[in-house]
Amino acid sequence: MIRLKKFSYWYPATEQHALDRITLDIPEGQFLGIVGANGAGKSTLCYALSGFVPHFYNGELEGELSFDNTPMAELDLGKLAGQVGLVFQNPFNQISGARFTVREEIAFGLENLGVPRAEMRDRIEEAMELVNIQELAERSPFSVSGGQQQRIAIASILAMQPRVLVLDEPTSQLDPDGTRDVFAALSKLVSTRKITVIIAEHKLEWLATFCDRVIALANGRLRAEGSPQDVLSSEQMLRLGVGRTQYSEAAARLLRSKQLPVTLEQAKKALQ
Ligand SMILES: Nc1ncnc2c1ncn2[C@@H]1O[C@H](COP(=O)(O)OP(=O)(O)OP(=O)(O)O)[C@@H](O)[C@H]1O
Ligand SMILES: [Mg+2]
Repeated sequence: MIRLKKFSYWYPATEQHALDRITLDIPEGQFLGIVGANGAGKSTLCYALSGFVPHFYNGELEGELSFDNTPMAELDLGKLAGQVGLVFQNPFNQISGARFTVREEIAFGLENLGVPRAEMRDRIEEAMELVNIQELAERSPFSVSGGQQQRIAIASILAMQPRVLVLDEPTSQLDPDGTRDVFAALSKLVSTRKITVIIAEHKLEWLATFCDRVIALANGRLRAEGSPQDVLSSEQMLRLGVGRTQYSEAAARLLRSKQLPVTLEQAKKALQ
């Protein structure tokens, strides 16, 4: 559905590629994880996959970037907005500032899409429920914590019911409960509505649990791709600065130890 072929991108007035000859085909209904160290190009790839590159960010492009076989650059932005939603890395950037309450904030995007009133109400309630923020409905989006803002930003995009949901580190300010809520909501949407989810995320354990496929970036290049099992367990992830899940880390430590644990106490200690 979204296809890149040797796609490269340079931000305005920069010499260095932000994306370097990326070839990638994302089929409908896939739950795709993007990993990479800081500056690897995760956010830039999220912008490309959601049309912000080239519609919002100028700069130089090379190669192919298409959505449903139409070059992204030829797509009408208004039409694209109903199909693809992007949750920004910093939730503060997402909040319009034009509305007084969280409920109105979520309504804002739907008004722009021209969704009828009655349907809007249902969609807003459902989106708030998915990320567990019903109790914030009448609060100001600026009077809540960073983690709550992150949930509001996600709800605003979920309410728009895009076919493709691109999320750039959507759980960076969330605690483990919040992170679980978000991944549970995403996996529910993938299984019930067959939407496509693309998520840049450092919390590898969650990607390992929920993704169909993981890609790894470094210096704007695609360096690995495959099942979460194959990609995340590979030694290469250490070299790329991606790291490993805590489970892989514990297992690796065990493999390096001189003697295997034989009691429960020893096993607990060895796996800690
Ligand atoms: N607006 C911009 N103008 C110029 N260069 C940029 C801009 N945004 C990002 N870059 C550069 O593009 C490259 C990729 O950055 P990007 O933000 O996509 O990485 P990232 O993987 O999302 O990093 P992080 O983990 O810190 O969010 C980096 O070299 C960065 O300095
Ligand atoms: Mg980023």
